[in-house]
Amino acid sequence: TIYKNYFFDEPAYDYHDGGYVPLEDADAPAKPLGVPPLLKADKETPTDVYYTITAQAGETQLLPGAKTKTWGYNTSLLSPTIHFEDGKHYHITLKNELPELTTFHWHGLNVSGPIVDGGCHAPVYPGESKQIDFTLNQPAAMVWLHAHPCPSTAEQVWHGLAGIVYVTDAHEASLDLPREYGVDDIPLVLQDRRFHENNQWDYRADYDPDGVAGPTAMINGTINPYFDVTTTKVRLRLLDGANRREWRLHFSDDREFVQVAGDGSLLPEPVHFTHLMLTCAERAQIVVDFSDCKPGDEVTLLTDDKKVVTFRIHEFKRVNGPVPEHLLDIKAPTVDPGTPVRRIVMSGMDESVAIDGKKFKMDRIDAEQPVGQAQYWDVVNANDKPGMVHPFHCHGTQFLVVSRDGKAPYPNEHGYKDTVGVNPGETVRLLVRFDLPGVYMYHCHIIEHEDGGMMAQIETYVPGKPRPKYDLMTMDKL
Ligand code: C2O
Ligand code: CU
Ligand code: CU
Repeated sequence: TIYKNYFFDEPAYDYHDGGYVPLEDADAPAKPLGVPPLLKADKETPTDVYYTITAQAGETQLLPGAKTKTWGYNTSLLSPTIHFEDGKHYHITLKNELPELTTFHWHGLNVSGPIVDGGCHAPVYPGESKQIDFTLNQPAAMVWLHAHPCPSTAEQVWHGLAGIVYVTDAHEASLDLPREYGVDDIPLVLQDRRFHENNQWDYRADYDPDGVAGPTAMINGTINPYFDVTTTKVRLRLLDGANRREWRLHFSDDREFVQVAGDGSLLPEPVHFTHLMLTCAERAQIVVDFSDCKPGDEVTLLTDDKKVVTFRIHEFKRVNGPVPEHLLDIKAPTVDPGTPVRRIVMSGMDESVAIDGKKFKMDRIDAEQPVGQAQYWDVVNANDKPGMVHPFHCHGTQFLVVSRDGKAPYPNEHGYKDTVGVNPGETVRLLVRFDLPGVYMYHCHIIEHEDGGMMAQIETYVPGKPRPKYDLMTMDKL
């Protein structure tokens, strides 16, 4: 089957109380797409890797004329790409050279909360540094790093604190998929910004409680990018890294493409389509076949009718093989009979957003679940139609999507995920299991909704063992 329509509820696309900000064509010359370099390890042994990640302020040449004041990790904007290999031990020094506190959240990484996970309970104060250690244990995926301090996650991400993380494992490495970084395997961080006077960003001026958006697409920190294609196939690792915007992706010639991975793993089988929608924080890895093109051709990836990236076709230096028809075995964990179904309701718009009728409180635990026990979570979007699609995200787990209003999930939702778009009025059933004890946040990933309190937290525990006491931060302790 080749799917030709977006899967989400069309009337809900970009719904916005205060008014949707459509993208506009950028008034800037075409530039080569910035592909972030790979982060270099400080030290590496066959089993252990040491990295340093520094949150810092800088300036970036985004448009002709004045540079834009931006933030980034080890660079002025966004981050080098971080590579983690399943089974290795990581030792990471987190440094904060910004004028305010920040946190380093590993969105989609299977690490313990609330400290290593880097949510709001793990502040690194200006001028200070912290050390985290973990052993990576999860399937190949693209996850990401972003700031997560309460309640200024949205503003810090808008300034540029977001980075790409490649997780690799032996199984994925055995499959015939494009994987030469920067050549036929590239990340695409999809964001949007508004440029004010002197090419500056002004988060406060653009503030909207339903999510800040700007009219200019910014891809890997490049405005108006093109990419030189030198292989028959290219694997694009897409991340919706925008605060609020959904991306409705398709090619200028409506060419078919294949999704091979979602947020947290490969898909069991590749999914073929011509149109793909991503909600905030969702990822999709797609393989695009350009073998029918000839040198000099151009194919553009669009969102609606606006340009995302132009692919300039050159002489092919490599012919990639066919995408395997089977990618990953997924065994859904069984739910013990009698396990209650957890119900989570996302409600409200603007300042009234809430989860289960409550605003987030840093020192309140809203739910608990035993480690290793699979549970159904029914995540409800209580907004009437038309209303917003709320992308629901949970830290510290990769879940499976069981159903949407009792019906099958979308065809490209059969892999592990950590973020799922919930349509207005809809109930999405998830199968959730935690591997590690800790405290984990769950929230809407329209980042202004999260900062606005559409967030809660769950404590996971090992049954029969004494529970650690978590030193939960409160706003006044910060
Ligand atoms: Cu992208 Cu609380 O996370
Ligand atoms: Cu997260
Ligand atoms: Cu929301």
